[in-house]
Amino acid sequence: MADYDVIIIGGGPGGYVCAIRCAQLGLKTACVEGRGALGGTCLNVGCIPSKALLHASHSYHEAHTNFEKMGLMGGAPSVDMGKMMDYKQSVIDANVNGIEFLFKKNKVDYLRGWGKISGKGEVSVDGEVHKAKSIVIATGSEVAPLKGVEVDQDTVIDSTGALALTEVPKRLVVIGAGVIGLEMGSVYARLGAEVTVVEFLDHVTPGMDAEIQKTLLRSLKKQGIKFILKAAVQSVEAKDGVATVHYKLRKDDSEATLEADKVLLATGRKPFTDGLGLEGMGIKTSQRGQVETDGHWRTNVDGIYALGDVIDGPMLAHKAEDEGMAVAESIAGQAGHVNYGVIPGVIYTTPEVASVGKTEAQLKEEGRAYKVGKFSFMGNGRAKAVFGSEGFVKILADKDTDRILGCHLMGPMAGELIHEICVAMEFGASAEDIARTCHAHPTFSEAVREAALACGDGAIHA
Ligand code: FAD
Ligand code: NAI
Repeated sequence: MADYDVIIIGGGPGGYVCAIRCAQLGLKTACVEGRGALGGTCLNVGCIPSKALLHASHSYHEAHTNFEKMGLMGGAPSVDMGKMMDYKQSVIDANVNGIEFLFKKNKVDYLRGWGKISGKGEVSVDGEVHKAKSIVIATGSEVAPLKGVEVDQDTVIDSTGALALTEVPKRLVVIGAGVIGLEMGSVYARLGAEVTVVEFLDHVTPGMDAEIQKTLLRSLKKQGIKFILKAAVQSVEAKDGVATVHYKLRKDDSEATLEADKVLLATGRKPFTDGLGLEGMGIKTSQRGQVETDGHWRTNVDGIYALGDVIDGPMLAHKAEDEGMAVAESIAGQAGHVNYGVIPGVIYTTPEVASVGKTEAQLKEEGRAYKVGKFSFMGNGRAKAVFGSEGFVKILADKDTDRILGCHLMGPMAGELIHEICVAMEFGASAEDIARTCHAHPTFSEAVREAALACGDGAIHA
């Protein structure tokens, strides 16, 4: 038994960042993690391994499609899934070990085991009780089940299964055209699988800018991914390594089936609070199972906070990290703050997609007068040199004040480019501020400047 200022339950990006910041602010801190490795979903079975596989499969695809065009001759590579998974694991290990190192460096105690809030100011870890003045719930999320679809991690897999396949399936059906469906669908399509995505809505990536949704769909179709939209999956039967996916077309309620060697369930995630002792402590949760918090991440029970995927808001690692820092600051008596209006979202397909702030649909709904500055990567010299001229930058700015309200980007390095807009928005910048900033040539960033110019007197290279 040990006494702490703060115990954080969960060592994902929300929890470990909170722990490091608490320790940096002079609080005696421990972080409890049950999975046997720090880094949470993100480092172990989420962001990091998926990006490793996206990188590997993109490189393979480049070798097959573009190398010869650049005069790089020789046999195109073949796929060794075992080696690819070893590479993925080495990336995970390097990141996970890095967090352990940071804990030691910052003197955060790493308590290995499953934590339960066993009483006021008490966390028991596999039976051993530790005391803390403040407790932070950062237990993350898990795959949400879909009625009629049983994940066996053999024929029917979830994202964790999709990150660990030992061979490329011949036919892969993905249920859900959200972020996981499109990223993992892209990985296996590039590696040679016939990928079909079945989606309930009439578009991909719900919540994104409508023009991005259409352009991304077109691009992914061109890459060979098939889409069945406006179709609700009802059930999946798995027998002798073959799956039959039953779905209903929403236009006429007709039923149809698809056969596949693997089916990936990618229809969302839900908060993970099993065994945490919420009921015993009277901690309120929403109908969706999220731990309820106020504007300062406090639950209804004094001294207990919550953050990350387990509370309301986008399920994103950087949102969890920002909350982690803000909660630490609040506990240390500072004014922790997260600007929820400037949280970027990135989809790591090719082309990459990135978005921040309001969409046109949201601005229309709010009745806010806005202008659009758009620039296609067709007009960007650097993009042409890397086969990346598909896509565009779209900046939305207030019609009268020119203040940037949002940006929607599709193209090379979109996930990096978006941060110029994030910083601009944090400073309340206008489109003209970006337009008047010198951007190095030749860079993809010039496309962002051109879109900003298009909000005013016009882009130069359009
Ligand atoms: P988690 O990362 O889920 O961490 C919670 C941790 O708490 C877990 O390790 C769990 O074992 C532990 N835990 C739970 N209960 C207990 C307990 N009682 N005792 C001890 N430990 C406990 N987001 C992005 O921003 N970018 C991406 O590119 C991205 N890619 C993703 C790809 C995939 C395939 C998936 C599944 C997710 C992806 N995400 C991505 C989402 C991202 O992983 C999550 O938003 C993020 O991990 C949430 O952080 P968290 O700290 O709230 O929770
Ligand atoms: P999602 O919520 O993004 O998408 C789920 C999709 O499934 C939706 O389009 C929905 O309409 C569809 N759907 C639901 N039921 C269906 C049915 N019966 N039949 C057909 N379609 C159906 O969920 P996803 O992709 O599982 O991702 C979960 C979370 O992980 C996301 O919230 C995201 O924030 C996070 N994530 C983030 C990444 C990133 O930032 N790059 C990468 C991967 C995950």
